[in-house]
Amino acid sequence: MTHPEAKHGRLPYLEPPPYSPIEWALAQVHGNAVINLASGSPDPRVAPIEEISRTSREILRELEATALMYPSPGGVEPLKRSIRRWCEYLQLGRGRVTVTSGAQHAIKLISELLLRGRKFAHEDPTFVEGMFPLLGAASANIPIPVDSMGMDTVRLESALRSGSRPLLVYSVPTCNNPTGVTMTLERRKHLLELADTYDFTILEDDPYRAVALSPGISLYKLRPDRVIYVGSMSKVISPGLRIGFVYSKDEELEGKLSRLAQTDFSTSTLNQYIVSRLIDSGFVQGRVNMLRTHYRRKLLAMRDSLEGNGLTREASPEDGFFTLVSFSKPSLEVFKASLRRGVVFVPAEKFYYSNTKRASRLARLSAGYPKEEDIEPAVKVIADSARL
Ligand SMILES: Cc1ncc(COP(=O)(O)O)c(C=O)c1O
Repeated sequence: MTHPEAKHGRLPYLEPPPYSPIEWALAQVHGNAVINLASGSPDPRVAPIEEISRTSREILRELEATALMYPSPGGVEPLKRSIRRWCEYLQLGRGRVTVTSGAQHAIKLISELLLRGRKFAHEDPTFVEGMFPLLGAASANIPIPVDSMGMDTVRLESALRSGSRPLLVYSVPTCNNPTGVTMTLERRKHLLELADTYDFTILEDDPYRAVALSPGISLYKLRPDRVIYVGSMSKVISPGLRIGFVYSKDEELEGKLSRLAQTDFSTSTLNQYIVSRLIDSGFVQGRVNMLRTHYRRKLLAMRDSLEGNGLTREASPEDGFFTLVSFSKPSLEVFKASLRRGVVFVPAEKFYYSNTKRASRLARLSAGYPKEEDIEPAVKVIADSARL
């Protein structure tokens, strides 16, 4: 339904985000038809509707009400086994699994368990929704800039040398959100060396590995004793199932996380069985190549459209969903003008925890959700709006 004010070219904007800037951007749409470059959801056109529906019927036929009871703490055993298989397929090596309601819930549990009253460092900009529970638990945060090679570990080292002592470093080293950048191997190794020298743990948030053609070797694979890995089935199956996991060498951590997860039962029992079967049957592994080329193609279509329309990218990601774009005026102005022409994206300021003046001219565009053929016209609208 069209919002009554939309046809006059005016929309009632909500206040700038006290909460997720992504949810804020999407809330401004007021149900109008738009091209959506704001959502971090995967492409709905590759959602495996048939397989989920068939698998769900099979499970209910075979397991009957068992699949509809409360889940066991930390996840049902068949899914824990399947996730170990999945992680070996992703070449992460061995680990112990705690099932969570998506990666976001995993970050929340880890924050509550480990970070209360302690400090953490993180990429700047970073995934703002992951930051909420971390900031909620920690006593302080230490933002470390990201450049075209990922987290600037030399800047992290200077912070550590001058006395900062984080317990945890939160990193999205592969297809960082919102920059799209994948951390180089050299930086990954440097980060791990720093973890040894200054004795901190790395929280590796890695939801894009299975949809990236060049994800880089996982930090967990390099040093399982220094890294708590957070994985997600959201981008490779679908986010609505809410299945993520913590993968770690540490048996004690697994026990504590499972006990903490009892306070909210984590996630749906039925969905856990569904994901378990989709992994065990090889269905998920079978779609990885298709997804990797699908998202690479869409991201490159976005790159070409941005270049063709004279818009500047902050970095040149080749994988994942996101590209960060800079304008010569505040991105909120470009946002409003684009929305009037039917295109929504996310002003990127709220992904930053320092340097916010420059950040007010940046925007996160996602190539993940829109139709491929809509990307070029949407970018043109944004470019025209940026020139107004
Ligand atoms: C870096 C990052 N971590 C975590 C998530 C959320 O994953 P999940 O759906 O598993 O909670 C996202 C989603 O966009 C993300 O970009």
